[in-house]
Amino acid sequence: MDCALKMTKLFSLIFAAFVSLGTVSAKAQDIKGDAKAGEGIIAMCIGCHGIKGYQASFPEVYRVPMISGQSAKYIAAALNAYKKGERKHPSMRGIAQTLTDQNIADISAYYSEHGLPGGASTAPKEVKAPSAKVAALLNKANCASCHGANYSSPVDPSYPKLAGQHADYLFVALKAYKNDANQVVGRNNAIMAGFAKQFTNAELKQIAAYLGSLEGDMKVVAQSRFR
Ligand code: HEC
Ligand code: HEC
Repeated sequence: MDCALKMTKLFSLIFAAFVSLGTVSAKAQDIKGDAKAGEGIIAMCIGCHGIKGYQASFPEVYRVPMISGQSAKYIAAALNAYKKGERKHPSMRGIAQTLTDQNIADISAYYSEHGLPGGASTAPKEVKAPSAKVAALLNKANCASCHGANYSSPVDPSYPKLAGQHADYLFVALKAYKNDANQVVGRNNAIMAGFAKQFTNAELKQIAAYLGSLEGDMKVVAQSRFR
């Protein structure tokens, strides 16, 4: 082996070492999740997310969001937002604070594939058109440009799928971005605050009703706590 070749080998070894160091310091959202490991942790989630029609009563009565079939990176982003306090909902904050970064990655992998084999979207490419009034509202903030034309294909995997999510939950979520300074129910998100604040609550309710009426990937997969 000549000297130049040895040097190249050495450099690629050093390079590999840097790459693996880089993985260690990667963002929490980028940790690789293991759906099987996630299955072992979700016992504490199914009491709310695994019961059809289960309602939360705070800050108002609404169905808890569907998370089976949501995208993994978004589930992780949402759990991290509760953990860090950017999302204030008290019970989800308490739960997220008990989870490690690896737990979050595993749970997110599990739920993104739960009821959606392999996690690949099966949502229809085209969704029914909104009424002229709702279309104008959606266009005003160009919602589809981030959440996807069918509201199931967000441009970034850390953005949520919205199609078919419970309308009453979507309404509560939209109001929470509007009330970003509220220490109990607020959601502090620089992107969504700007959009939500452009609308009255009555308008947000109409948007939520339309998005909730669409066909999407998310479902409630009923699960027993005693398996
Ligand atoms: C006591 C009932 C309850 C339990 C238990 C619970 N959740 Fe939640 N979860 C909720 C409610 C209510 C919300 C909506 C909170 C809000 O308005 O921000 C929520 C929101 C979420 C969201 C955000 C969904 C979205 O579309 O943004 C995720 C992700 C989530 N929960 C995951 C979990 C996981 C994972 C567990 C178990 C480790 C869990 N939850 C346990 C009630 C619960
Ligand atoms: C520039 C990109 C962008 C645009 C445009 C946008 N959103 Fe979002 N949306 C996001 C991101 C990012 C999040 C996740 C925020 C977080 O982590 O809480 C989000 C979250 C949401 C949520 C919460 C979903 C859940 O499961 O909790 C709803 C509802 C929503 N958006 C609706 C809308 C509507 C309606 C519009 C148009 C009026 C819109 N978005 C425009 C990027 C966008």
